[in-house]
Amino acid sequence: MVKLAIFASGSGSNAEAIFRYFKDSPEVEVALVLSNKADAGVLERARNFQVPTLTFNRKELYETGFVRDQLQEIDWIVLAGFLWLVPAALVEAFPGRIINIHPALLPKYGGKGMYGRHVHEAVLKAGEKESGITIHYVNERYDEGNIIFQARCPVDPSDTPESLAGKIRELEHRHYPAVIDRLLNNGSAG
Ligand code: GRF
Repeated sequence: MVKLAIFASGSGSNAEAIFRYFKDSPEVEVALVLSNKADAGVLERARNFQVPTLTFNRKELYETGFVRDQLQEIDWIVLAGFLWLVPAALVEAFPGRIINIHPALLPKYGGKGMYGRHVHEAVLKAGEKESGITIHYVNERYDEGNIIFQARCPVDPSDTPESLAGKIRELEHRHYPAVIDRLLNNGSAG
């Protein structure tokens, strides 16, 4: 059994898509959900799928090694709306086995502060004709790891940050679990 841990700070709709996808899988188990926010929606979603949860603070992630110690049994880390930087020690402990999803076509519209609504506002302000999602490996810098997969959607003149967010969310839920599955099973998302 390949064991996944999901890190998330927010609502967790992507995490839920992943729980659903692997719910009856004989090969892949979502073994733990970790959050830096005690009231994050993702924790409730995890409980609904009987996935164990853990919350942690800055010190436990960046200084004491507490978070890393909780991941002894874990094979892959999936970030799904996790807003803190992954510490180098964790990147080193999981070489090529931490991935993230970003709600735009990296390398554009990435980096610190580019999350949620800020991304869609920037895409609209720049007059882009298309946006999309990027699934990528995680390194010690925000949104800069190698790209594994992208999917695109049109940006229409009538789009608002909310309507664009809806299109992106649909792409994320459709592709993130399937790309994870392909990565875990073949080591590539091709
Ligand atoms: C997603 O748009 C994802 O791309 C980004 O954070 C958002 C998380 O949304 N990294 P949710 O909490 O999964 O609904």
